[in-house]
Amino acid sequence: MEFILINIFLGVVIFLSLIVLWFVWPPDSPWSPWWQVGTRQIRESLKLAKVTKDDVVYDLGSGDSRVPIIAAREFGARGVGIEIDYIRHLTAWLKVRIDKTSDRMTLKRENFFNSNISDATVVFVYLVPRVLEKLKPKLFKELKKGTRIISYKYKFEPDQNLELVEQDEKNEIYLYKIPNF
Ligand SMILES: C[S@@+](CC[C@H](N)C(=O)[O-])C[C@H]1O[C@@H](n2cnc3c(N)ncnc32)[C@H](O)[C@@H]1O
Repeated sequence: MEFILINIFLGVVIFLSLIVLWFVWPPDSPWSPWWQVGTRQIRESLKLAKVTKDDVVYDLGSGDSRVPIIAAREFGARGVGIEIDYIRHLTAWLKVRIDKTSDRMTLKRENFFNSNISDATVVFVYLVPRVLEKLKPKLFKELKKGTRIISYKYKFEPDQNLELVEQDEKNEIYLYKIPNF
């Protein structure tokens, strides 16, 4: 009996540890755990970027795709969420169905470094600085001039190819633009 109880206890400990690990150590990026941006910050970000129904709003590393979903539902934009983690992608898929925004939403379960993002007019990122810097060459190569980039929490390193247009320190939102030169 004691042996069975110890085994059950160990099983529960291992199971809980795996859940904790999954939250802080997602498959592709050990640097990008599933922290989620709050809805207030999402709305402020989209307002700061002046998102309209003509925009295509990408979230690179979209988690449950709360950003593109709000962009689609409240701002009438087209939303694209790219997420590498299967469970987060599935969560997003379910949310889109519940939210009835699927006609304006595209969800991709893939590595955003391999995605074509050239039709974006607005790109949202909530990624740690190391990943932001790694992402820069792709942004410069694929995005059109004038595309707005919203970074939540973390700033990009200063760069002449990326113009810091506005910042909302209180909400930790940084709005950039691919300059027109
Ligand atoms: C800090 S979370 C932000 C989630 C969401 N954007 C939000 O603000 O609520 C970063 C997300 O990026 C995802 N991610 C990290 N590297 C990725 C990659 N190369 N391709 C796709 N998703 C990635 C992680 O799995 C994680 O869900």
